[in-house]
Amino acid sequence: MTAIADPAQLRAFVAGMPKAELHIHIEGSLEPELIFALAQRNGVSLPYPDVESLRAAYAFTNLQSFLDIYYAGASVLLKEQDFHDMAWAYFQRAHADGVIHAELFFDPQTHTERGVAMRTVIDGLESACRRAKAELGIESELILCFLRHLSEEAAFATLEEARPHLGRFIGVGLDSSEVGHPPEKFERVYAEARRLGLRAVAHAGEEGPPEYIWGALDRLKVERIDHGVQSLRDPRLVERPVRERIPLTVCPLSNIKLCVFRDLRAHNLGRMLELGIVATVNSDDPAYFGGYLNQNFHETMSALGLGAAAARQLAANSFEASFVSPERRQAYLERLDAHCGRHRLA
Ligand code: HPA
Ligand code: ZN
Repeated sequence: MTAIADPAQLRAFVAGMPKAELHIHIEGSLEPELIFALAQRNGVSLPYPDVESLRAAYAFTNLQSFLDIYYAGASVLLKEQDFHDMAWAYFQRAHADGVIHAELFFDPQTHTERGVAMRTVIDGLESACRRAKAELGIESELILCFLRHLSEEAAFATLEEARPHLGRFIGVGLDSSEVGHPPEKFERVYAEARRLGLRAVAHAGEEGPPEYIWGALDRLKVERIDHGVQSLRDPRLVERPVRERIPLTVCPLSNIKLCVFRDLRAHNLGRMLELGIVATVNSDDPAYFGGYLNQNFHETMSALGLGAAAARQLAANSFEASFVSPERRQAYLERLDAHCGRHRLA
């Protein structure tokens, strides 16, 4: 047994800590090397000559500057095997980071608009999820995201296309360009999704104002807020997630890469924990933002001076916030307790 006495031990404790990842866009896990391999396999031409020049373009100034490159990268995905390979690569990295449960966002409109069938996307992702369970012991679920820069009508059409696959994904989310596309644009689509028994989450308060968080809660009736880092600008918005235990899926490295905060020392994750918000740490688009889940934990904890107790709280929050049965949640929390016990953390 080891006790946590220095930064190296804290790092080892965090690295091996069982955790859930709840905010990962699977298309954002597409590494440049895989983008080029798939482009070659599928005969797709890219506007970059090689991996290095693509990676060099990852200097973002805001969300939109990232999204333009992210959608270009996703254009190499055409066949079921491509979706499988992408998700399987993610699961292997997640496993190395102690992830035991993952809820993956996918953006079907990015693919169906290019003529790829909804079934192709879901078949490929689902087979990777099954493989992750069989070979790595990772439990996972899929969450279908609507692109908010597209119309309500397009979102309804997407939900309709996904109907034959109900039961293969657990919920709906809302992503893409936030400012100018408030949650209420999708109020009726969310009402229909909830009527179908789907869980509801939405990106809100990443770049957008606190009102968008209110909109996601009151109009879309979401159970989790993705990002939500702007909530601390409105004191009433802090009280509500605490009282109602509405989790925020925070993505620190993403927030820095997209210039939401000046640097990690200015991030409000530590403040969220002090306030009792059910905050979680996630990687968002790890291939683009400088690291997977443990990288997010290590860099953020070190910048904010967070210790083992905070790490444990973040992992417990990730299980509380996950869409699992009470029995499975309990089992996850017991695995976390066992890990803490091995590090002599009562
Ligand atoms: N924000 C909004 N939409 C997205 C993101 C994000 O960070 N990543 C992929 N789609
Ligand atoms: Zn996101």
